[in-house]
Amino acid sequence: MKIYHDHDANLDALKGKTVAVIGYGSQGSAQALCMRDSGVKVIIGETEKLDGNENPSWTRAKNEGFEVYSIGEAAEKADIVHILLPDEFHGPVYKSEIEAHMKAGKALCCSHGFNIVYKQIVPPADVDVIMVAPKSPATEERKAFLAGFGVPGLVAVQQDATGKAFDVVMAMAKSMGFTKAGVLKCTFEEETYEDLFGEQNVLCGGTVDLIKYGFEVLTEAGYPPEMAYFEVCHELKLIVDLIFEGGIGRMNEVISNTAEWGEYYNGPFIIDPSVKERMKQSLKRIEDGTFAREWMEEAKKGRPNLMKKRADLAKHPIEIVGKEIRTLFEKK
Ligand code: NAI
Ligand code: MG
Repeated sequence: MKIYHDHDANLDALKGKTVAVIGYGSQGSAQALCMRDSGVKVIIGETEKLDGNENPSWTRAKNEGFEVYSIGEAAEKADIVHILLPDEFHGPVYKSEIEAHMKAGKALCCSHGFNIVYKQIVPPADVDVIMVAPKSPATEERKAFLAGFGVPGLVAVQQDATGKAFDVVMAMAKSMGFTKAGVLKCTFEEETYEDLFGEQNVLCGGTVDLIKYGFEVLTEAGYPPEMAYFEVCHELKLIVDLIFEGGIGRMNEVISNTAEWGEYYNGPFIIDPSVKERMKQSLKRIEDGTFAREWMEEAKKGRPNLMKKRADLAKHPIEIVGKEIRTLFEKK
């Protein structure tokens, strides 16, 4: 796979163009600030009120010196409409406020291919459809940019109406520092399916359940919750840092031989081949649209189950103990 760097991209592709960042949340704020720092003309599309309350993102965008418009106005003024709302709102907001302004030659951009791949948004044929996605949470992305570097990113072109779509999306990646770290070109499908698979099976789903079960088994057996928290949650970060730094081999060098032997002895007993089979089923649900359909049904109902799960998790002993411990061990 080719990795693109700074010299593969030219900011001139954005000269004279206005990028409207729609949604000034985690990604919206980080990306808008980085692009502006690189000299790109950026405006913000936001809603002044959200669920009847003042929207802090609107106020923050104003305070940080941006021209802030309603989503429709921003989409109308922009050449590139970069939607960075929570994924479950892209479809309805696109229909009600953006679609009418997607005139020929403009570009529709996003950081996750979900809504294009699962057809929650069907853009007209005469606009470019592009994606630029950081492989990082927003906070790290901004930090890396301010340190003069960047986080790795992905770019994709779904529709190239102008013949310039790739140049434009690469310029966006460069303006946010991604080409300093390295950018991979993929398809919307690859990004969407891999991203969903990763977060559902390993990064979020998977890891979280492993942590919770580990904590429950220890505390139910009478071990102190504080120790259990350190063992199965706090230390996970230190282990992952080693894997990040030099692979699983590097971690195995640093941990004791006893820990390494335990990894081989018990790992395949806990995560056995049936897990792999279920991962294959998960990938299938992602690729055939089952997961997306069910998630969009949940979103349409106002996300009642998401809210319930979120509230339940907050009551789990590991969350309560963890909160206390983290404040006790904060640097004073
Ligand atoms: P977010 O949850 O921070 O929300 C963005 C903003 O959208 C909010 O600040 C709010 O002002 C606005 N908003 C919320 N609900 C709205 C509604 N009903 N109508 C209109 N505006 C509303 O979003 P986040 O996490 O930054 O995600 C944005 C996009 O970036 C998504 O497509 C996501 O998949 C993608 N992405 C996010 C990453 C992350 O680190 N959070 C990493 C890579 C991609
Ligand atoms: Mg992801």
